[in-house]
Amino acid sequence: MQDAPSDRDALQALLDFHVEAGVDLALDETPHDRFAEPKAERAPAGAAQAAAPKASPAPAASSAAPSPRALPKAAAGAPEEVAGLAREQARHARSLAELEAILAGFDGCALKFSAKNLAFADGNPDGRVMLVGEAPGADEDRIGKPFMGRSGQLLDRMLATIGLDRTQVYVANIVPWRPPGNRTPTPQEIAICKPFIARQIELASPEFVLCLGGPAAQNLLGVKDGILRTRGRWFTYRTEDGREIRALPTLHPAYLLRQPLQKRLGWRDFQALRRALDGRE
Ligand code: URA
Repeated sequence: MQDAPSDRDALQALLDFHVEAGVDLALDETPHDRFAEPKAERAPAGAAQAAAPKASPAPAASSAAPSPRALPKAAAGAPEEVAGLAREQARHARSLAELEAILAGFDGCALKFSAKNLAFADGNPDGRVMLVGEAPGADEDRIGKPFMGRSGQLLDRMLATIGLDRTQVYVANIVPWRPPGNRTPTPQEIAICKPFIARQIELASPEFVLCLGGPAAQNLLGVKDGILRTRGRWFTYRTEDGREIRALPTLHPAYLLRQPLQKRLGWRDFQALRRALDGRE
């Protein structure tokens, strides 16, 4: 006769069930009935956003997540207000190191509090090419740098086909904190983080920006079409200080991992980038 499962087995089975269901983060000890909370206590539309403190001292560039029990609340504020504060703070950064420190101290995006680390950038900020993805995943969150997991490995292989590696390119994301469970960042989260990636591009000042996937292309270039229509076409990215940078949308490596037949399109885009680097396009 089989023994009844021990508490340990039952707990393990429950944990496995949650992981399989995509629950990979404990946000709090107990569930909350947000509808029952008084209005004033509730977060504004977009729930995950809130205002940053007015002035941001330049804190150490670390954003280790607090334990689930101690998740702090971001201060309340409408997403547009928070995006305004983000713009103000991002504008003050005079270097990429300053920008990273300001971002690490910025409490306006609630993703910061569920993420383990800020994944600000990887690679060479003096490189001629800057690649911008959507948001960090689990590996990037754990390591604190963009494109560290399987997508990053494919990206490295694609770069290698045109003779580049991370010592020659600079890599970042539109949103620098991992959305819980790898969900898509909300439009409000993107709006709040956008001034920081805009300033990051301005400060890195690359010759070329490669937008990895639809969200990067749409949010940086203001295009509405999906990535299958925009990929492989050159656009102009305009920095706030009026510089024009050539920008090329291409398919996201995570998409190429799911749709390997489309790699030939990605390969064509990387060839176009190579020609542009060589002054042939
Ligand atoms: N996908 C992204 O868009 N960015 C990363 O850093 C990793 C995966």
